[in-house]
Amino acid sequence: MKNILITGGAGFIGSHVVRRFVNKYPDYNIYNLDKLTYAGNLENLADVHDKPNYFFIKQDICEYDTLKDIFTKYNFDAIIHLAAESHVDRSIANPMEFIHTNILGTVNLLNAAKNLWHNNYEGKLFYHISTDEVYGSLGETGLFTETTAYDPRSPYSASKASSDHLVRAYFHTYKLPIVISNCSNNYGPNQFPEKLIPLAFNNIKNNKPIPVYGRGENIRDWLYVEDHAGAIDKIFHDGKIGETYNIGGINEWKNIDLILLLCKIMDSKLNRESGTSERLITFVKDRAGHDIRYAIDSTKLQNELNWSPSVNFEGGLEKTVEWYLNNEKWLNNILSGDYQKYYEQQYFLR
Ligand code: NAD
Ligand code: TYD
Repeated sequence: MKNILITGGAGFIGSHVVRRFVNKYPDYNIYNLDKLTYAGNLENLADVHDKPNYFFIKQDICEYDTLKDIFTKYNFDAIIHLAAESHVDRSIANPMEFIHTNILGTVNLLNAAKNLWHNNYEGKLFYHISTDEVYGSLGETGLFTETTAYDPRSPYSASKASSDHLVRAYFHTYKLPIVISNCSNNYGPNQFPEKLIPLAFNNIKNNKPIPVYGRGENIRDWLYVEDHAGAIDKIFHDGKIGETYNIGGINEWKNIDLILLLCKIMDSKLNRESGTSERLITFVKDRAGHDIRYAIDSTKLQNELNWSPSVNFEGGLEKTVEWYLNNEKWLNNILSGDYQKYYEQQYFLR
């Protein structure tokens, strides 16, 4: 049995990674460690909750003393670190939370791993999950590669860049076995409705204005969340120690074009007359320091580890819309705040 710690497993991407590992690897004990901030929702994992190889630990990665004890108690062989504050707009409004969790929290995990493994690194791995936003903003051409210089421009991306640097520093200085991946924008089931796609979905459904920042000209590369989980699985098992891998969807969309496609899908799913939803599009004040374009070159991952995205965007977006339509309760629980009671019900009131 391997003991694997996944941090941030109650969040959007983390829950897909936890589910994949719990189901695919019954020989691994999967420990989901999460503080359950507003973004953490154990309902995301209701289907694996009772599996014998799944364990939940409610813990803040910023509290080192208890974190260290947890590492000693469970004797982790590997860590997949996803816990983070992840929303750019929140980082603009309140940067300190991001500095705290994303930088200090990551260093705490590095120290806890170093302390537990104590120079005996055989079979051990610290896998840090990061974002393409560390590379900054592209113009009309070019792609981010693993060697693109870091140029973060929001408090979120700057805090993630700092954490990447620290992870690499522990590799070079202490020989801690690490690997890092930097991924583009994810979409799919279970994404918190503050991010573009689920927010727009919810507003379209409720006939509310769809807020598009600036003129909607900014470009993002979108990857279906299960494709990201698949890439993480590959890198976890076959990635080379000390290396970085870019993960992307080869799928660039201008925000406005993405919203128009979403409106078209929603009109069809809700039996609305064609063109109804797009009348909700409302251009609003631009985000401060709004990065123009992200686009990622994932050739290294494709060539060295034989990974490629499997879900095409139109199909993935339609699947996502269907998931949100079929999981109204999940969305309503978030919007009402009820999802935060789930932990109490699952873990204390049974
Ligand atoms: P999310 O906000 O949905 O989930 C974050 C999770 O971390 C939540 O469950 C939250 O409770 C937990 N968490 C936050 N602070 C914590 C703390 N102090 N201690 C313990 N747990 C804490 O985020 P996400 O979108 O799933 O992103 C996961 C990771 O992937 C992040 O590291 C993010 O930077 C990275 N990433 C995200 C995207 C994307 O498009 N969402 C793209 C590339 C990389
Ligand atoms: P977001 O989902 O916040 O991801 P990120 O900022 O990490 O790329 O936003 C995706 C894009 O959509 C980004 O260019 C900002 C834009 N956006 C809007 O136009 N309106 C919105 O309400 C939100 C949340 C984002």
